[in-house]
Amino acid sequence: MTAASETPASTNAPSMTCNAPDPIRILREEHALQNELCDLLEAIADGLPHHFDRSLALVSVSILETGMPSHMRLEEEALFPLLRRRVAESHPLQSALTCLEDEHDRDGAALVEIAEALRSAIDGGSIANPEMLGYMLRGFFESQRRHIAWEEAVVLPIAEAVLTPDDLSSLQKWVMQSEHPRCCQQSVIALRTARAGAGTVLCSTCVQRHDH
Ligand SMILES: [Fe+2]
Ligand SMILES: [Fe+2]
Repeated sequence: MTAASETPASTNAPSMTCNAPDPIRILREEHALQNELCDLLEAIADGLPHHFDRSLALVSVSILETGMPSHMRLEEEALFPLLRRRVAESHPLQSALTCLEDEHDRDGAALVEIAEALRSAIDGGSIANPEMLGYMLRGFFESQRRHIAWEEAVVLPIAEAVLTPDDLSSLQKWVMQSEHPRCCQQSVIALRTARAGAGTVLCSTCVQRHDH
């Protein structure tokens, strides 16, 4: 399990749950972003020990420190518990989810180390041990690529097959009440407006349904 727990914002958070929730698509979009992060980290590692690409490092740190922890929490605190309830206790997915949580623990710890190392290289302009940084980066992005490929090939297809509409709504509700509300059918601006107290936000799909 991840060390820090993201508490859904509050019980009186505005109602922002989309009427056509697609949280699985959110997870797939986040995986695509994480694969791009792996490419960035590989490009940085390829440049070492002689060249450090500061601009790639800045983008990488931003994804490492915000996108990845919230993604792991979404899986561990919302998706995996729903899946565990929807498949039999003897289903191989049960133990697979435990393995994925163990990987989150390892990758979460590595993520903090790598973000710190990159940030210090960005701030200081020099790297104490560039070979070690390259080694850490390679270990991390290779493990991440395997992890993401496995979730895409096995976990998400099962989720699409077994989760009920109520499950998907509760998954989307968890996302909306988290520190990083997101919906693939609503703009970030609309979500921020609603979070600031403007009340319910309907995505274009929901508005069209409401109008007819
Ligand atoms: Fe994961
Ligand atoms: Fe994932």
